[in-house]
Amino acid sequence: MFFGGDYNPEQWDEAVWKEDDALMRRARVNLATVGVFSWALLEPEEGRYDFAWLDAHLDRLHANGVSVDLATPTASPPPWFTLAHPDAMPVTRDGARHIHGSRDTYCLASPAYRTAARNIARALAERYGEHPAVVMWHVHNEYVTLCWCDHTAAAFRDWLRDRHGSLEALNEAWGTAFWSQRYGSWEQVLPPRATNWHQNPGQHLDFRRFWSDLVLAAFREQRDAIREHSDRPVTTNMMLPGYQNVDLWALGREVDVISIDHYPDAPGLDAAADTAFAADRARSFAGGRPWLLMEQGANTVYDGDRILGKEPGEILRHTIGHIARGSEGALFFQWRQSRAGAEQWHSAMVPHAGADSRIFREVQAVGEAVERLGEVEGSTVTAEVAVLHDADAWWAMEVDGLPSADLDYHGSLRRAHRALWEAGVTVDFAHPEHDLSRYRFIVAPALFLLSDAGAANLRRYVSGGGTLLVQHFTGFVDEYLHARLGGYPATPLREALGIRVEEHRPLRRGEHIVLSDGTRATVWSELLRSEGAETVLTYTHGMLTGHPALTRHRFGQGEGWYLSTRLDDPGYAALITRILGVGTEPPGVESVTRHATDGRSWEFLLNHTATTISLPESAHDLLTGAPVSELPPGGCAVLRKNR
Ligand code: GLA
Repeated sequence: MFFGGDYNPEQWDEAVWKEDDALMRRARVNLATVGVFSWALLEPEEGRYDFAWLDAHLDRLHANGVSVDLATPTASPPPWFTLAHPDAMPVTRDGARHIHGSRDTYCLASPAYRTAARNIARALAERYGEHPAVVMWHVHNEYVTLCWCDHTAAAFRDWLRDRHGSLEALNEAWGTAFWSQRYGSWEQVLPPRATNWHQNPGQHLDFRRFWSDLVLAAFREQRDAIREHSDRPVTTNMMLPGYQNVDLWALGREVDVISIDHYPDAPGLDAAADTAFAADRARSFAGGRPWLLMEQGANTVYDGDRILGKEPGEILRHTIGHIARGSEGALFFQWRQSRAGAEQWHSAMVPHAGADSRIFREVQAVGEAVERLGEVEGSTVTAEVAVLHDADAWWAMEVDGLPSADLDYHGSLRRAHRALWEAGVTVDFAHPEHDLSRYRFIVAPALFLLSDAGAANLRRYVSGGGTLLVQHFTGFVDEYLHARLGGYPATPLREALGIRVEEHRPLRRGEHIVLSDGTRATVWSELLRSEGAETVLTYTHGMLTGHPALTRHRFGQGEGWYLSTRLDDPGYAALITRILGVGTEPPGVESVTRHATDGRSWEFLLNHTATTISLPESAHDLLTGAPVSELPPGGCAVLRKNR
């Protein structure tokens, strides 16, 4: 199990390095991510490398028993790069060119940037590919920057030529007959730069797809340059949960190890639920294989425009929350809190106050606990329930001109996951075109865009015996963002659900409606006709009075549910538990089990309540190395089973 974090020794001097060595031993640090933002030191001038300082740090870490996740520094090109290649600086949607002085100042489509990035990755791999300290490669840092420059325009056109084959096909796909947007030559086609009114939806969606492919290509170039000189696994850290600049299913196929950065965006129980949401997504993108929490904050909870701290015990709970769901350890951004620079107020394992601090004492205790989890390594988590996620559907819901500003892809996924989490169910995420047969229940909270293949797959899933809950505004458009004609959703799915949506009727901001059993709903309603489905709940307002709001349809061996509005939280939780046939206890003890292939398993327990929970029987707790029979408020335990 890995424990450690981003380590930036270049910000400190020798006296601090000595203290770092001692404190890392105390905290049981065994992995340090080094060099993430070190380009200016590693290559002070174009083509002139200085590795002496890095040699010394890697040797020192190695001698101290700390392995290295060696990063390529390509997320922050040095100032010389800007001046030599001004055309490689990113250009915003409205034409402003950014400059160095922060980080992420590059355009992934710029040939000069790509060459420079490949060169520094290769130089690092040549020098450290077999270094005994290096156990993993960390390409780049959070591929987040988008760009709308001329290099991007040229690369976008090439991508579009490949995807559509001809200009005629592109015009058809983008529906350019509308608003006189017809393209007469490829040169006229641009990335979706700022416009004075709604942008073409097809152009937006293809740009998102193109950018995702560009990220993958840039990653692959560095990965392959590294692989020429090193056999250690290669990763790139993704920012979860809200990150959508790359199709994470596709990225999962390119990396050797999925790694994520996770910073909760609200405190308390919300942070615990968000931890589970991020971790379940990471495990799913990893295809069920173990993955790694690359960054978390020792004392960081983002809350809108402020950075809140963590409560005592939360570092351990968040760490265990991730490991429970498959992470092979827990790393932090960063080891030592920076004295200067743009992130000097971002927390770290060693805070400004130093080692004599609550934070470091908790970090040390967490390090000791993680060290005791070694036997769990390599075990995996299985789920019987899945939430469907598709990058295309997410990007599709970003387009201008949707009928309601309250339609929210990411929020809908989180709500579905949260309701399942509160019901005590372990959840995978799955793509609508995956083989879904191993799941007994699937929720499709927001598949506005659903491909023909996806719709057929969902139909197959239900007829084969699965239970599917489809929520409003799903399957309204195909993979080109063209509306489904003759009624929504896409025909194969309509057959499985036994319904036909004839009309959508968004609700006003803040408006609440009441359904036939008293459940409250917001945001959306639909005029829905049953084509074989049983009506479970009806609307009680306006022209929809008496029409179905929630339906259920026996189809083949399975069952398709359709929810045409957005239920309030208690109503939604009640629906989920009703379909699953589980109790409706309030959120209490989170329980997740990791299984080894040899039959061993470990139950991870997190007590989110304010009361002490008695366990049915005393069991060996790996975290303390002692038997445990009860969990105090906020406590966690990892129970060894079957041995
Ligand atoms: C990210 C980055 C880090 C750092 C942290 C701060 O996820 O990868 O470099 O900026 O956030 O929270």
